[in-house]
Amino acid sequence: MRNILITGGAGFIGGHVVRLMVQKYPDYRIYNLDKLTYAGNLENIADVSALPNYRFLHGDICDVEYVNRIFNEYSFEGVIHLAAESHVDRSISDPLAFAKTNILGTINLLDAFKSLWKGQWENKLFYHISTDEVYGSLGESGLFTEDTPYDPNSPYSASKASSDHFVRAYGETYGLPYIISNCSNNYGPNQFPEKLIPLCIHNIEQNEPLPIYGDGQYTRDWLFVIDHAMAIDQIFHKGEVGETYNVGGHNEWQNIDLVRLMCEMMDRKLGRKQGHSAALIHFVTDRPGHDKRYAIDATKIDKTLGWKPILTFEKGLDQTIDWYLNHKEWLTNVTSGAYRQYYNKQYQAQ
Ligand code: NAD
Ligand code: DAU
Repeated sequence: MRNILITGGAGFIGGHVVRLMVQKYPDYRIYNLDKLTYAGNLENIADVSALPNYRFLHGDICDVEYVNRIFNEYSFEGVIHLAAESHVDRSISDPLAFAKTNILGTINLLDAFKSLWKGQWENKLFYHISTDEVYGSLGESGLFTEDTPYDPNSPYSASKASSDHFVRAYGETYGLPYIISNCSNNYGPNQFPEKLIPLCIHNIEQNEPLPIYGDGQYTRDWLFVIDHAMAIDQIFHKGEVGETYNVGGHNEWQNIDLVRLMCEMMDRKLGRKQGHSAALIHFVTDRPGHDKRYAIDATKIDKTLGWKPILTFEKGLDQTIDWYLNHKEWLTNVTSGAYRQYYNKQYQAQ
């Protein structure tokens, strides 16, 4: 038995990683440490929560005493660190919350891992999940490689860049065995509807305006979340210590084209006249410091670990829309109360 800690496993990507690891590796004990912030939801992993090799730990990665206690109690040999504040718009209104969780929380986990193993690093790994946003913004052409210099533009990406640097620094300074992966935009079931795709699915269904920032000509590279979870599994088991892997979908879309596609697909599914949902599109004030384009060169993970995305975007988006339409209760639960307040503040008078 190996004891593995996954942080942020009640969130969007973390939930899919927990499910994959618990089901695929019955001889691992998977511990899921999550604070259950607004973005954490145990319903996301209810289907695996009763399995004998899974255990939930309710706590904050910033809590020094608690984190040290669980590291000493369970002697985690591997850490897959996903817990974070993850939404760019929230980082613009509250940067400090991002610095605390994403930077201090990561350092706290690194310290606990270092204190536990005291240099006995054989078969140990700290795997840090990061984002392509640390590389900043691309122009019309080019792709982010693992050698692209860091150039973060939002408080979110600056906090993730900082946490990446700390992970690397613990490797250089203390010999702590680490891997970092930097992934492009994920989409799929269970994503909190503050992010573009689930926000639009929800608003189309509700016949509410679809807020498009600026001219809508910003480009993102979309990857299905289960493809990302499979990349994380590959990297955790086969990745080389001290390396960084870029993970992406080879799937660039301008926001406006993506939203128009979702409108067409949902009009068909909901039996509405074509053009009905596109009429909800509403251009609003741009996000400050908005990165123009992200796109990943995933050659390294393909060539060295044999990972490629499996699901086509058409199928992934179709499955995602169906999931939200079939989980209205999940959506209603997460969009009540605090979500409404956030939404009204973020999109007020637009
Ligand atoms: P999410 O916001 O859906 O989930 C984050 C989870 O972390 C939640 O369950 C939350 O409760 C938990 N959490 C937050 N603060 C915590 C704390 N102090 N202590 C313990 N738990 C805490 O995020 P996500 O979209 O699933 O992203 C997961 C990770 O992947 C993040 O590190 C993010 O930077 C990275 N990432 C996300 C994307 C994407 O497109 N969503 C792409 C690349 C990388
Ligand atoms: O690239 C990886 C990153 O992708 C992750 O690290 C982040 O955690 C994740 O949130 C995501 O960041 P983005 O800012 O790219 O995702 P978001 O869904 O917020 O926005 C996608 C694009 O859509 C972006 O160009 C902004 C735009 N947008 C977003 C919202 C919420 C709109 O036009 N309107 C909106 O209402």
